[in-house]
Amino acid sequence: MRLRAYAKVNLTLEVLGKRPDGYHEIASVLQTVDLADDLTFEPAAELAVECDAPGLSSDDNLVLQAARLLKREMQVPQGARISLRKRVPIAAGLGGGSSDAAAALLGLSRLWELHLGPRELLPIAAQLGSDVPFFLFGGTALAGGRGEVVTPLPPCRDAWLVLATPPIQVARKTATLYGALRPAAFTGGEATERLVQALRAGAPPSSSHLFNVFEEVAELVFPGLTRYRATLLDAGAPSVHLTGSGPTLFCLASGPEEGAALQRRWAALGLEAYVVKTVAGSL
Ligand code: C5P
Repeated sequence: MRLRAYAKVNLTLEVLGKRPDGYHEIASVLQTVDLADDLTFEPAAELAVECDAPGLSSDDNLVLQAARLLKREMQVPQGARISLRKRVPIAAGLGGGSSDAAAALLGLSRLWELHLGPRELLPIAAQLGSDVPFFLFGGTALAGGRGEVVTPLPPCRDAWLVLATPPIQVARKTATLYGALRPAAFTGGEATERLVQALRAGAPPSSSHLFNVFEEVAELVFPGLTRYRATLLDAGAPSVHLTGSGPTLFCLASGPEEGAALQRRWAALGLEAYVVKTVAGSL
């Protein structure tokens, strides 16, 4: 059995405030795109995860954590052999690890005949990470709470984007970015509400709808991001936006041709870029 684990972008990402549990209350519109990892599942006596990306086969791989948690919660006697083929850049703001974890839950539920669908898997997904519940559904969705309260939105069909992932790694990136936020950056959810209204009215997202609370702190935390962003703009991007806690930047394209033209110009500068299309979710 094979499943695709799609990447996401945050079309909006607002922080409404800090919560007593140390997390932040967010309002975000998330969208899956057709850049994806592949997971294959085979029956086995023990749990084993193999991965083609060096450094990801260790215990902190979220796929292995997801498998162990589901096995324990559902008291499953058997194991599974899971192979993970990575294509989504790692720790890039594209949700790759969270998406892999959600796909692992869905795949193992089928392999082990647990008959648990996305809704039943939600509480387990939320224990693995704030973004994991969204990936059980994918498509276009509104996320609230710390990210785990997911409301599907009308699908945002056939929108094209170009992603560019700078080669900048920062340890404990997400926690660092949240930690660097000042209350002045908190908003009331208005940007998210505007986009939700537009999507419910059947309008495609436009650059003016996009918002990310981390846009400014990311420039401080990721060395070289400011210059990288300027290069993308100089090479013809109409506007560039941060996804999640970065450092991936993206821009909307009118279609595959404009997307490919931008990608070519960025690639000529040695920048890793992907032309992607939105994908609908399972609801
Ligand atoms: O949930 P996840 O493990 O992805 O979160 C990583 C870190 O990001 C958390 O430990 C927390 O510091 C921060 N975070 C937050 N508010 C959120 C989501 C994450 O402060 N809504």
